[in-house]
Amino acid sequence: VARPCIPSVPSVPNVPVEDWECFQAILDHTYGKHVKSEPGLHPVLMSEAPWNTRAKREKLTELMFEHYNIPAFFLCKTAVLTAFANGRSTGLVLDSGATHTTAIPVHDGYILQQGIVKSPLAGDFISMQCRELFQELNIDIVPPYMIAAKEPVREGAPPSWKKKEKLPQVSKSWHNFTCNEVIQDFQASVLQVSDSPYDEQVAAQMPTVHYEMPNGYNTDYGAERLRIPEGLFDPSNVKGLSGNTMLGVGHVVTTSIGMCDIDIRPGLYGSVIVTGGNTLLQGFTDRLNRELAQKTPPSMRLKLIASNSTMERRFSPWIGGSILASLVSPGLGGEPGGSPQVGPLKTAPNRPQGTFQQMWISKQEYEEGGKQCVERKCP
Ligand SMILES: Nc1ncnc2c1ncn2[C@@H]1O[C@H](COP(=O)(O)OP(=O)(O)OP(=O)(O)O)[C@@H](O)[C@H]1O
Ligand SMILES: [Mg+2]
Repeated sequence: VARPCIPSVPSVPNVPVEDWECFQAILDHTYGKHVKSEPGLHPVLMSEAPWNTRAKREKLTELMFEHYNIPAFFLCKTAVLTAFANGRSTGLVLDSGATHTTAIPVHDGYILQQGIVKSPLAGDFISMQCRELFQELNIDIVPPYMIAAKEPVREGAPPSWKKKEKLPQVSKSWHNFTCNEVIQDFQASVLQVSDSPYDEQVAAQMPTVHYEMPNGYNTDYGAERLRIPEGLFDPSNVKGLSGNTMLGVGHVVTTSIGMCDIDIRPGLYGSVIVTGGNTLLQGFTDRLNRELAQKTPPSMRLKLIASNSTMERRFSPWIGGSILASLVSPGLGGEPGGSPQVGPLKTAPNRPQGTFQQMWISKQEYEEGGKQCVERKCP
């Protein structure tokens, strides 16, 4: 909703927290408007990126116990939760979101730091190229909140629309957010990853897709449907990245597995778990499968695990977190010592259940051991 001056922030920042005031405001909002209950009554499971720093993990632990007075806390890496959501405790998690694409090896429920490979080529990189395409074609990006009315126009004709008369003074970040939503819808509706390395002649034969902008401008898109996402898989020809050494998605995966112990590589090739909104691009998993099939050592079996559901692909850490939390809820309100409520994927994490009960940092442990206990309990 367009309202005056509400700066837009990413809802659940999967980066180490930079702005603690803002982070606390999000938590206050979550408790006040969504959980609608006292923080002191509920254990908290949070997810974090593998590159979160020690200082920030400890500060977070302190904040949750001291300020929110929670009874128990656990911090788990997003990649581990994604693996659990897919019924695995070992696998190579390939996450392509907005800001980056990463391969994170997970073994027996723990990440292997030395094998993490990260590339900045992801959804934002695709959005940037779409923005450039619109600029070249002189297509305006007008977000829906500015539009009062529009009339149908011929294909390729200038749009005919009326601006709302009383537009509120929205913040620049909110305006940009709404423009990005327009671009992201274009990405999801029009773009397609080529099933083999990009070939101009093949792209020229591509069936076109008709797309209408919120202001009514509409036209067909052809070769650019394949050209824009190609850089994800083959960065060598991307404009503005000349002489670049960035890795394409297939290489991100194989490099990561190559940095892990040879004994566990078969388990990683055997469970390549694909997650993140950017992997929903049409044709993404087919191309990845094809590239990895060519690179998998003959002695190993390749298996890609990619949920068909958009929600599961975008929110796998949340789903894995809910499974883990339901397995491990520290008997609050339930039976003492807790017979755990078993989630839909009770076989997911293959650690014995007793370990789960002890997994949480209890308030008492925090009071005795201080914030440093997060290093030991949540490695
Ligand atoms: N159906 C879809 N088709 C193509 N792209 C999509 C689709 N849905 C979402 N995306 C893209 O996925 C990206 C967002 O993915 P995701 O929600 O996983 O990112 P994030 O977790 O916020 O970012 P990051 O993990 O990089 O910090 C956006 O670039 C968006 O355009
Ligand atoms: Mg993400």
